[in-house]
Amino acid sequence: MSRYARFREECEDEVRSQGEDLGFKAVSQDWIDRSMQSKYSYHFEWMGRPIIQYPQDIVAMQEILFEVKPDLVIETGIAHGGSLILYSSLLELNALHGGPPDARVVGVDIDIRSHNRAAIEEHPMAGRIDMVEGSSIDPRVVEEVHRLAEGRERVVVCLDSLHGHAHVLAELESYAQLTSVGSWCVVFDTVAETLPQSYFDAVDRRCAPGDSPMTALRVFLADHPEFEVEQAVSDRLLITVAPGGYLRRVA
Ligand SMILES: C[S@@+](CC[C@H](N)C(=O)[O-])C[C@H]1O[C@@H](n2cnc3c(N)ncnc32)[C@H](O)[C@@H]1O
Repeated sequence: MSRYARFREECEDEVRSQGEDLGFKAVSQDWIDRSMQSKYSYHFEWMGRPIIQYPQDIVAMQEILFEVKPDLVIETGIAHGGSLILYSSLLELNALHGGPPDARVVGVDIDIRSHNRAAIEEHPMAGRIDMVEGSSIDPRVVEEVHRLAEGRERVVVCLDSLHGHAHVLAELESYAQLTSVGSWCVVFDTVAETLPQSYFDAVDRRCAPGDSPMTALRVFLADHPEFEVEQAVSDRLLITVAPGGYLRRVA
């Protein structure tokens, strides 16, 4: 066994123990609760565009995109465009590392503000990006994304738009099937299920415990054995907005 393979085995053991460490999980959850109050995830940028993610999830997405070397990344929820620029830049790096030279990113948002659209379109990483405006569960939008996915062989799907149960379930039913076998479908903000109700009362978010990406995911997984939760990702990150939301398509 190579030194690298041995190192990886050690890491897997350590991550398993970390995932069983209830004390570590509890302080991580406390930290997440506090970070929500300061809107922690809003305070980062990728190549000059605001990205509404935790740094831990950004690293996890880098690992996924490097592993899969997708020729298409689909993301619902564009906001300022930071995550589209992130994925586009990672596809650019993949192309230097044997990845598909023509890999693309499709972003969907119900409201692509003109200043965000302009900043994305003017960005040096824009060349790989297509944007579709409309609700991600509107049949016209779903059809357009499926059209853009035609002929693509290694597809990663990220769902990060409206986070209520019904919307996320409809997104899963519309887009998860585009995930190629062996690749990933990532459902962001499953963390909503673990936050105190008072948080949602205070900020009036359109999701809450019991009406969240996690409840949608549970319903979806019950009917879709071709997807499995990669628990090791959540156990590794501990601080993540997508606990249990990193799905691998296994069949
Ligand atoms: C959490 S932000 C996305 C953050 C972005 N992925 C990032 O990492 O920077 C959620 C976005 O979803 C969009 N959105 C809300 N409802 C939507 C819908 N029905 N369909 C598509 N996008 C929607 C909002 O306009 C907002 O830009």
